[in-house]
Amino acid sequence: MEIRDIERAAEILRPAKRVAVLTGAGISAESGVPTFRGPDGLWRRFRAEDLATPEAFADDPKLVWEWYDWRRGKIAGVAPNPGHTTLAKWERRFPSFTLITQNVDGLHVLAGSRHVLEIHGSLWRTRCSVCREVREDRRAPLAELPPLCFCEGLLRPDVVWFGETLPMEAWRMAETAAEESAVFLVVGTSSVVAPASSLGLVAARAGAHLFEINPEATPMAPLAEGVFRTSASIVLPEIARALGAG
Ligand code: OAD
Repeated sequence: MEIRDIERAAEILRPAKRVAVLTGAGISAESGVPTFRGPDGLWRRFRAEDLATPEAFADDPKLVWEWYDWRRGKIAGVAPNPGHTTLAKWERRFPSFTLITQNVDGLHVLAGSRHVLEIHGSLWRTRCSVCREVREDRRAPLAELPPLCFCEGLLRPDVVWFGETLPMEAWRMAETAAEESAVFLVVGTSSVVAPASSLGLVAARAGAHLFEINPEATPMAPLAEGVFRTSASIVLPEIARALGAG
């Protein structure tokens, strides 16, 4: 299916009371954040099982931290793009708007979104593996690796690793938003990582209008009523303009 009908999407969105959006690495691609599965994707160059599992961290916390800190360094200076800023404005545009992201880059928050369900955590938070305290960090690389808590426990990135469960409260809210949304947008995700990949399906089964924004084909596309095969940083502002014009 190849539908590029901005007007139609805007018509459906305009009266919608409940809108939910799921974003993935693709929305940040044009800000300069690497995706995971593209030609230059992180998982093409690194093995997830060596760097993004609890076992890897137990084996070699410094190595795991070096990788996360390298990513922090890469992302620290990047800015949100018009895709992020459009979604930030939509928080005020719709009576109920839920932004769910798999991204750990913090760019939705930086763009001005106040309520973001970060279901895979954040690169800019640490969590103590002993006392469990969660701390917000500056958007900068760390001074010392691996970092230690005030309690002397080892800090870990507050992200979800393979084999771990998602933060319960955020996930529950994401599922509810998918079930209750009138319109659900799946933006910049390959839709291959469970359970996030199920949210579009949950929404479509519950009767939502499902749209996808992604330059590449994904398993979500056949379920969508509209597919925009171009960059989120272009399409989202276009839809916003069409919305405003109606
Ligand atoms: P992926 O790297 O799997 O997919 C990124 C998607 O973005 C691809 O489908 C691209 O086609 C699309 N894309 C690229 N540029 C785009 C643009 N300008 N506009 C819109 N879309 C674009 O990233 P995710 O789906 O986010 O999990 O990956 C899901 C999870 O897998 C991540 O959260 C991470 C990873 O392992 C954890 O670390 C737990």
